[in-house]
Amino acid sequence: MNFNYTEEQLLIQKTAREFAKDHLEPGVIERDETSSFPKLEISLMAELGFMGMMVPQEYGGAGMDAVSYVTALEEIAAVDASAAVIMSVNNSLVSQLIQKFGSEEQKTQFLPDIASAKKLGAFSLSEPQSGSDAGNMRTFAQRINGHYIVNGTKNWVTNGISSGLVILMAVTEKNKGNKGISAFIVEKGLNGFSTGKKEDKLGIRGSDTCEIYFEDCKVPADCLIGNEGDGFNIALGTLDGGRIGIAAQALGIARSALEKSVTYAKDRKQFQKPIGEFGAIQCKLATMATNVDAARLLILKAAHLKDEHKPYSKEAAMAKLFASRIAMEATTDCVQIFGGYGYMREYGVERLMRDAKITQIYEGTSEIQELVVARSLLKQ
Ligand code: CAA
Repeated sequence: MNFNYTEEQLLIQKTAREFAKDHLEPGVIERDETSSFPKLEISLMAELGFMGMMVPQEYGGAGMDAVSYVTALEEIAAVDASAAVIMSVNNSLVSQLIQKFGSEEQKTQFLPDIASAKKLGAFSLSEPQSGSDAGNMRTFAQRINGHYIVNGTKNWVTNGISSGLVILMAVTEKNKGNKGISAFIVEKGLNGFSTGKKEDKLGIRGSDTCEIYFEDCKVPADCLIGNEGDGFNIALGTLDGGRIGIAAQALGIARSALEKSVTYAKDRKQFQKPIGEFGAIQCKLATMATNVDAARLLILKAAHLKDEHKPYSKEAAMAKLFASRIAMEATTDCVQIFGGYGYMREYGVERLMRDAKITQIYEGTSEIQELVVARSLLKQ
């Protein structure tokens, strides 16, 4: 067992940390307040290779491992959780899906543009009536001659507005349940494809989230990924990787809460001494630090298994379940330590708490992660 990062992983960590400080931190509060997408920042991240980190170099990516990816993602999330989810969806849910399940033509055609963020990717699985019960979707893609006619609505699509292409899960054969679902790559600009308004969210306000609509949208048949009926397995297999990414996002947020709390506990004086000298504050700091380390170990374990091409579904669910829970706890405690100042927007710690909440919801709620872990235990 080796607990050391490689030289390359350390360099990636340093690069991501410096980038986040120099380019994400300056505008992060304003982007949160104005719900502005970090367009320039994402293009700079692409130049550093962060938007296609695990995509092989022959397809325009950085060709790195999952451990490097989660390490960079933690650094980005520690400063800007919105940039982190944009990065996570593009890497985990779009690039990885095409890389693993796409044809050679699809990889050659799409991966370079996604990795360079020329065409940002989005992933559309959920629908108004199907969230956790993802298989209960209604969007229908009917095969007619050399194309599919798609009708339906997808919701909560991260990157939906800024993306150039969307991974679509749709029913191609009714009454077959999960086995009737197929996956497609849909480029923006097709007739009958439109996006809804930008959702007004509690947190990660710099990222865009919207509904997308298909109205008799004609999608070429060669946009099908794999075979008809493979879509549900493709979606869930991809979400395993996505969950490691969201866990790393949660970890970055929690670490930021810890660092801000430690600094504040040393500076802030009450009753003539720094509040860090009070046991009540020390307990919170110690718990936060222990949880942050434990979350990182779970994430690295899942990422390592992915790199080794071993099963990691349970480990990814555990990592997301734990990291998102401790992110919520750490950010709530951080606001508590800051007291009245923490409740004010100016100090930026309430944003951490707002950003943390979504990590317990998207890419499978905490309850779904518990179900995935429990099912895995019970079938052993
Ligand atoms: N990898 C590959 N295949 C998998 C899998 C995995 N991890 N887990 C299950 N499957 C396969 C099963 O083997 C089964 O295939 P077969 O029929 O061939 O045996 C099939 O999928 C159905 O499995 P289940 O019977 O377990 O399916 P289920 O209907 O009971 O649901 C679930 C399983 C775990 C609840 C699943 O629906 C789920 O994960 N729901 C949560 C959905 C989710 O995470 N949504 C996130 C939206 S995307 C998002 O948030 C992105 C964003 O914008 C940030």
